[in-house]
Amino acid sequence: MTTPDTFDLTGKIAIVTGASRGIGAEIARLLAAHGAHVIVSSRKQADCQAVVDGIVADGGSAEAMACHIGEMEQIASLYAQVEGKHGRLDILINNAATNPYFGHITDTEPSVFQKTVDVNIRGYFYMSTHGARLMAKNGGGSIVNVASVNGVVPGFQQGIYSITKAAVISMTKAFAVECAEQGVRCNALLPGLTDTKFASVLVNTPAILKQALAHVPMRRVAQPSEMAGAALYLASDAASYTTGAVLNVDGGYLSV
Ligand SMILES: NC(=O)c1ccc[n+]([C@@H]2O[C@H](COP(=O)([O-])OP(=O)(O)OC[C@H]3O[C@@H](n4cnc5c(N)ncnc54)[C@H](OP(=O)(O)O)[C@@H]3O)[C@@H](O)[C@H]2O)c1
Repeated sequence: MTTPDTFDLTGKIAIVTGASRGIGAEIARLLAAHGAHVIVSSRKQADCQAVVDGIVADGGSAEAMACHIGEMEQIASLYAQVEGKHGRLDILINNAATNPYFGHITDTEPSVFQKTVDVNIRGYFYMSTHGARLMAKNGGGSIVNVASVNGVVPGFQQGIYSITKAAVISMTKAFAVECAEQGVRCNALLPGLTDTKFASVLVNTPAILKQALAHVPMRRVAQPSEMAGAALYLASDAASYTTGAVLNVDGGYLSV
């Protein structure tokens, strides 16, 4: 029996932000393994190129394009390159984010507030407006926003970060509703605690880790590769009727 492979991404052009390491790198690798041409992006071109080299060595197709998503001109420049070179976009994985401040919410410095909002909200938003417009030119596409469980339950002493992740969940639904007629789907992926540089303070401090895992039914942190399958699903035709969804990949954390 032959069934169509709805996870096949052959011929698709995908951008993955924050793809030089961690969750983004794993998503980039899996999308490429399923046939997409992946634009690996983060602030550091050389780190992106290292991920590209690995994908190409494994027989995949990818290229590196640096972009600081907190800088509006860099977002415009990234899209000018993508449109000029490929003329289309099928998949956008908004994954790059920042969390520069751990501390009491009332001590949040305006500069930290601004940086977190500029990257995590404005960056996701304008990557999506540019992306959705380009996708619409070829009949549509899929946006996957990597948010966080902290967008539902604020992380302790991670106030402004959590607020931006809640905004990403709201943004996901707004794009889903307004872009459906253009064939653009938009969904959110909510990772739980995952073993990356981003979470290294939490994961590598035994007392904090023990406390965190007490609230996770599966009693372990995720590996970044465990986020990639969910992103592939939402990006692919396997999710062709799914838009505005919020997919928890959290070991059960939000179900307690
Ligand atoms: N790890 C967790 O426990 C966890 C839990 C929930 C949600 N998340 C979310 O998962 C996503 C990925 O996090 P991660 O854990 O994989 O982190 P990570 O390993 O630290 O990777 C972050 C990536 O983002 C890039 N980046 C950072 N700031 C950027 C900017 N302004 N512009 C463009 N790229 C930027 C980094 O590369 P450069 O430094 O080269 O720019 C890197 O590629 C984030 O949205 C995060 O909020 C993570």
